[in-house]
Order: sequence, then structure tokens, then C-alpha cells
Amino acid sequence: MEKTAIKPEDIQILVADESHECYVDTILKTIEDAAKVRGTGIAKRTHDYVSTKMREAKAVIALCGDRFAGFSYIETWGNKQYVTTSGLIVHPDFRGLGIAKRIKDMTFSLARIRWPHAKIFSLTSGAAVMKMNTQLGYQPVTFDDLTDDEAFWRGCEGCVNVEVLRERHRKFCICTAMLFDPEEHLPAKIPQDVINRINRLEGRATTSQEFRD
Ligand SMILES: CC(C)(COP(=O)(O)OP(=O)(O)OC[C@H]1O[C@@H](n2cnc3c(N)ncnc32)[C@H](O)[C@@H]1OP(=O)(O)O)[C@@H](O)C(=O)NCCC(=O)NCCS
Repeated sequence: MEKTAIKPEDIQILVADESHECYVDTILKTIEDAAKVRGTGIAKRTHDYVSTKMREAKAVIALCGDRFAGFSYIETWGNKQYVTTSGLIVHPDFRGLGIAKRIKDMTFSLARIRWPHAKIFSLTSGAAVMKMNTQLGYQPVTFDDLTDDEAFWRGCEGCVNVEVLRERHRKFCICTAMLFDPEEHLPAKIPQDVINRINRLEGRATTSQEFRD
């Protein structure tokens, strides 16, 4: 299909399930090819990891008919206190049509619904992602404000700039850190004992997470 002929309404943005596992190889190849073009290196994702994300309703896929157009997924860190929307990719044939924005909006909503009290962060050198993060209410922060979960930082080991990160003891790197803190989007902070009281009145468990894996 000619790119100019594609209209945004031709693209479906879906929360993926097992029926989309047939796209995993294409997704991984598209991510790998894009990383080569950007010269950044990537966090390694296995076939099984991406398939599991689909089965757990933690991935979003964009399709144009049965053609792969884009993808992203959500991950939790530090005992689900932090969430990232990760692996955002739009196939080159479908760029500039607002698909990344629609995918990002969907992964962001998924993360907020699933872990409403988690902080959502992003570590990126991509201008498009910074722009979308800002539109969603993320603020630039220092690396100290991000998770200290080692599993997250291991994802940086595939990046060409990992030595910079190591030399700076994870305080700085090429990427910009951005954070959406749900607490900061409330005009006043409600003390935890009041939240517990409200939860009791509403018959909810007094946990900080309403949805659990
Ligand atoms: C980055 C990427 C996901 C954008 O996909 P896309 O579908 O073309 O993006 P959209 O059309 O939804 O654009 C979203 C916003 O980003 C802006 N944008 C898109 N590409 C941009 C670029 N290269 N530089 C700056 N801004 C850009 C758009 O103007 C739009 O902003 P607006 O809503 O204010 O108009 C896509 O180019 C891609 O897959 N690149 C390779 C992988 C990658 O870089 N992933 C991000 C990892 S950090």
C-alpha cells in the first residue's frame, strides 16, 4: 500500500492477546532495524518475553488490516512502584500518521488503570517520545528519581552509551529521564491514614495497588 494512501482510520490500535503472537518476529526485527538506523543499541527482548506481554494484556499493537504497523508494552519495576511504557516502535511504512501517539496513549491508560499509584517513567533520547511524554504530564527529572531496580538498568547494557552511564554512576547519561507522578496530579496530598479510611468506607482493600498480577 502507498504510504500516502494510508489514513489514520485504516489503523487499528488494540490491546494485544495471543492471536497477535504471529507478529512477534516482525516486531523484534523492526525494533532491531530501527536501533541500527538510530545507532543506539537496544534493550534485548526475547520472543517469549513479548509473547508473554501479549498474553498478559500488557502490550498494544497497531495493525493496518493484517499488516504490522506498530507496537509497545508496559513493564513494572521495584515491586510495581514504577512502570514504563517500553519498546515503542512504528514500522517505517506507517510513520508520521500519529500512530505512536495513539499507541502511547493506550499503553499509558493501561498502566494507569492497572497500577494507579505507580510512577510512570521514561528514559529516552527520542524527540518524539519526549514530546508525547510532555503532553501526557511527564516532567523531566534526575536519574535519582527513577527506579533502583537492577533489572531495569540491565536494559541499558545493550546501548552504545552504557559506558557513559557507568562512568557517571548512573547519575547522568545521554538519555533524558522523565516521570509522571500520579500524586503530583492531585492538587493536595491526602494522608495515607485518610486514604485507608476512605478505602474502608468504600469496602476496598487498603493496598496501594488496586489491580495485581
Ligand atoms: C519515534 C516513532 C515511534 C514515532 O512514530 P510516529 O507514528 O511516526 O509518530 P507520531 O506520528 O505519532 O508522532 C507523535 C509526535 O511526535 C512527533 N514526532 C514524530 N517523529 C518525530 C521526530 N523524528 N522528531 C521529533 N518529533 C517527532 C510528531 O510531530 C508528533 O507530535 P505532535 O502530536 O505534537 O504532532 C517512530 O519514528 C519510530 O518507531 N522510530 C524508531 C524507534 C524509536 O525511535 N522509538 C522510540 C524509542 S525512544
